[in-house]
Amino acid sequence: MPMIAFVSPKGGVGKTTLAANVSAVLAASGHEVLALDLDPQNALRLHLGVPIHEEGGFLASLEEDLDWRRVVRSTRAGVSLLPFGMTDPKRVLDLTRLLLDRPELLTNPVKDMLASPRRIVVVDAPPGPTPALTALLPLADAIAVVLLADGGSASIIPSVASGRFLGRGTIASRSAQKVILVLNQVELGEPLSDAVFECAQEAMGDQPVHAVARDPAVAEALADRRLPIEGTSPAAEDIILLADTLARRIQAPPPVIRENPRPGFSALAAWGLRR
Ligand SMILES: Nc1ncnc2c1ncn2[C@@H]1O[C@H](COP(=O)(O)OP(=O)(O)OP(=O)(O)O)[C@@H](O)[C@H]1O
Ligand SMILES: [Mg+2]
Repeated sequence: MPMIAFVSPKGGVGKTTLAANVSAVLAASGHEVLALDLDPQNALRLHLGVPIHEEGGFLASLEEDLDWRRVVRSTRAGVSLLPFGMTDPKRVLDLTRLLLDRPELLTNPVKDMLASPRRIVVVDAPPGPTPALTALLPLADAIAVVLLADGGSASIIPSVASGRFLGRGTIASRSAQKVILVLNQVELGEPLSDAVFECAQEAMGDQPVHAVARDPAVAEALADRRLPIEGTSPAAEDIILLADTLARRIQAPPPVIRENPRPGFSALAAWGLRR
């Protein structure tokens, strides 16, 4: 039923990395997770171990009456995935126009995804505003806004705190109440990281600010076709805490402990996340 969206006004801040890993943590702890890629980069699938030659997807082939179940694929992390699909610039522009005119082509299937009470839908968005994100944000229960702990990101924090970056009016204000600010690539004890973190906490007031450590293991894991949360590293620990915060925020339905968990995640078993 609930939806978590990973969004940011900025690119390259870790949205896809965090969406993939939070999805995997939630799946590993027994939740039914469906990850939806809204970004034509089509990169979420790579984090979740889909071979690069597999080109099928959801948004790239969106049309009237497309049954999303036909394009969903399972991943070894236990996350069901709707990749964006391979596409070209013209199709991306056409899709932008189509969703501006007919957002229901996306919102109707997503409402259908959300109709299952146990399913958590995790959305990975491209940077900045898009018609797809505008259509889906009102359906989100938690909006993880990802920024870096640097000067460029710090300049954006006030517009995240006010909700202005989500748009204007009542719907944007309502979405702003669901924001969890995630500062990624934080270096504890580094003056700039500490200063940005303090600014973020002050600006966000009562709303949660989460931090994920800068950690070379994160980039290495992707190159190595692993998820960072499969290892023990500072970022892995932070991502597990983030998943926990988000699960509580969305009041996730209780997880179902599977009798036969998929093999290959011994680290998660060692952490007590799966049997
Ligand atoms: N905590 C971290 N520590 C170190 N590197 C990280 C961390 N998080 C993400 N990265 C690296 O930062 C880069 C950008 O990450 P990612 O692709 O997830 O960002 P994004 O916000 O989804 O980008 P885009 O806007 O292009 O979609 C990747 O190389 C990733 O490995
Ligand atoms: Mg991305």
